[in-house]
Amino acid sequence: MISMKIGQIARYSRCAKKAVKVAVVGAAGGIGQPLSLLLKMSPMISTLALHDLQDIKGVVADLSHICTGTRVQAFVGAKELQCALEDAAIVVVPAGLPRKPGMNRADLLTVNGDVAVEVAKTIAFVCPKALMAFITNPINTIIPIVAQILKERNVFDPNRLFGVTTLDVVRARTFVAEALCIDPRTVQIPVIGGHAGITILPLLSQCLPKYTVTGAERDKLVKRIQDAGNEVVEAKAGAGSATLSMAFAAAKFVDCLLRAINGEENVIACSYVQSKVTEAEFFATPILLGPGGIYKNLGLPQLDEQEKKAVETLVKQLQQDIAEGAKFLCK
Ligand code: LMR
Repeated sequence: MISMKIGQIARYSRCAKKAVKVAVVGAAGGIGQPLSLLLKMSPMISTLALHDLQDIKGVVADLSHICTGTRVQAFVGAKELQCALEDAAIVVVPAGLPRKPGMNRADLLTVNGDVAVEVAKTIAFVCPKALMAFITNPINTIIPIVAQILKERNVFDPNRLFGVTTLDVVRARTFVAEALCIDPRTVQIPVIGGHAGITILPLLSQCLPKYTVTGAERDKLVKRIQDAGNEVVEAKAGAGSATLSMAFAAAKFVDCLLRAINGEENVIACSYVQSKVTEAEFFATPILLGPGGIYKNLGLPQLDEQEKKAVETLVKQLQQDIAEGAKFLCK
């Protein structure tokens, strides 16, 4: 007979992970595939439901041979989206078209807006209590659109809807580390605002370890972080935008949500959410996560004078981007 002392049982249950179902919508695409691979490695995911409009059975067969405990399921076509989302604790959405050189993210609204609306309607119907992480661009406008669709169906919980802006943090850490010649994993830096051009604001004044860069050098670094998406779009020369780094970033963000669901304390991530922090109705700040999504919006970190001015300017741009969502839904 196996005998376990009470202390051992308590220790075991503290370590035990609650594994949940995660759905990826748009899983066959450039972001969806590497994202699904990374999620397949998470011990906190029991089932990975992979959905796409195009056939995804090959991707699922491939992933299903990986020796981890996560079960992978395929769902193909609009009709199977409902089944994919059933009982999902987290829905991650990379679905949509990527940019081509010369386009900005806002140019994707016509096509990707429709995609987000369809996904949001199905989430509202099937799993409105799921934590939702949207990657689909233009994030600044897509999140307000999704919020509105959920509101119209009386299922909107602002604590559960997230625009994934983790790639901006990932890039900021990498570029600062390059400048300091240190390991990027040792760099911490909040990135606030939104996810396009000047709405992306890396707070260099809050960087750890301290990085006291000023003048033209500082402006150049901020601009590189803001334009990093273009850097990839141009390098891919028509073959799309960031997929691998975006998958890495989205997997990191989902990992934060999973750890929070599992009761881990002090899980903090920057994300674009409904917010009262500034005049913009949606805004990315550091968020303390809990099992129900946002536990507490940590608000604006301390800002220096240059960052205060940048926030004033970016809030105006964000307000315009948010208003585009309302216009899109009126069409
Ligand atoms: C990125 O930041 O790389 C993504 O938002 C994709 C894009 O269009 O730039």
